Amino acid sequence: MPETRRLFFALWPDAAVRAALVEAARHVPVQGRAVDPADFHITLAFLGATDAARERCCREAADRLRAVPFTLTLDRAGHWPRPQVLWLAPAVHPPALHALATDLATALRGCGFQPEARPFQPHLTLARKVRRAVLPEAVRPVLWPVGDFVLVESGGGADGVRYAVRARWPLGPA
Ligand code: 2AM
Repeated sequence: MPETRRLFFALWPDAAVRAALVEAARHVPVQGRAVDPADFHITLAFLGATDAARERCCREAADRLRAVPFTLTLDRAGHWPRPQVLWLAPAVHPPALHALATDLATALRGCGFQPEARPFQPHLTLARKVRRAVLPEAVRPVLWPVGDFVLVESGGGADGVRYAVRARWPLGPA
């Protein structure tokens, strides 16, 4: 069995956006297991266990992508009872975000990854194992100027799963 790493592509907030997210999240009551703010992200494409050859293919696919920067406004809180996650999301989805996710999924097919059957639902998980949620009427909107996307490795730590950014690709003209 070749060695694998657990990987996914994501939008990764910078320190200023992360601080604004922490502030917004303070007004969303969490009953489950809160995600560490250092791990806040929006998944673009989940790869799962990936060997070195496939990882190289994915990185090269990301190198070839042409996508434009956009601004996300995270202004909705919600809860999915089945995966039991509490999330923040943008009410309005910028077309450039969907173009990025779709183009990435298409490119990753060339590396042997089947795109998700479900439609892309951009969300930032605030907490897991949330059976029932009390959602706030309104969320303080967080403006997130998205200028890049990243490849993240998820690994087991002593205190659970932690994420580490392994590579970064700027959006915009080459
Ligand atoms: P979640 O936040 O909705 O749980 C790392 O695990 C990231 O990949 C998380 O953001 C998680 O989404 C997402 N993820 C985990 N397993 C996945 C799967 N099987 N399909 C799609 N996304 C997944």
